[in-house]
Amino acid sequence: MLFDIEKLDSQNTYKLLVATVVPRPIAWVTTVDEDARLNAAPFSFFNAVSGYPPIVCFGIGGRAPGDAKDTGNNIRRTGQFVVNLVSDELVEQMNITAIDFGPEIDEVFEAALTPVPSTKVRPPRILEAPVSMECERLVTVEVGNDRSVVLGRVLAMHVRDDCVMDAEKCYIDTPKLNLVGRMHGRGWYTRTTDRFEMPRIEVPEWKLRGKTTD
Ligand SMILES: Cc1cc2nc3c(=O)[nH]c(=O)nc-3n(C[C@H](O)[C@H](O)[C@H](O)COP(=O)(O)O)c2cc1C
Repeated sequence: MLFDIEKLDSQNTYKLLVATVVPRPIAWVTTVDEDARLNAAPFSFFNAVSGYPPIVCFGIGGRAPGDAKDTGNNIRRTGQFVVNLVSDELVEQMNITAIDFGPEIDEVFEAALTPVPSTKVRPPRILEAPVSMECERLVTVEVGNDRSVVLGRVLAMHVRDDCVMDAEKCYIDTPKLNLVGRMHGRGWYTRTTDRFEMPRIEVPEWKLRGKTTD
């Protein structure tokens, strides 16, 4: 079936994307406004897009033209944010922070989470999160009237102590992070417990297998 995106409305286009680009990692973004009021919200249009420099990006969409949700509005004004990652134990609390509260409501407090000061940016990180990345905005790309993509440079990373296998070599026990991803629809998620390993193939090995023409 071919879907001609140019003939689809915004809702159906969104449905096609979020039903197929799965699982998506979740950025649980903490920001503050100019008065240091704290805000938290999850964003699954999210990924790490460069290793060095370390760049993460996430997409904010669609409340009203010019309104980048509280998260985007705060980043617009302060240039700083923290991306916390979501483990299985935290999904209910993450879901609370997705409630469409006004800017006066601190979702971190509503979800009974613990904010702790960051080292390089003003927004605090979430203590309970197994990973937190302190970020400064690199650029915000306006991709539509009510949609933007924030690119941020990671300045510092916190990884829960018991998930660090060798701090010097930066070996992380990824399975232990127990992260979840977002699947289709409004309420489907996946755990990261179904894993498999596949070694990469070097050119000589590929030739040995007789699969190349040269
Ligand atoms: C798992 C999950 C992922 C979400 N991903 C996005 C996203 O990528 N972009 C977006 O604009 N909203 C996303 N939302 C909705 C926002 O979290 C929601 O609109 C929130 O209220 C925004 O909060 P804020 O106004 O405090 O920034 C997501 C919600 C959930 C539960």
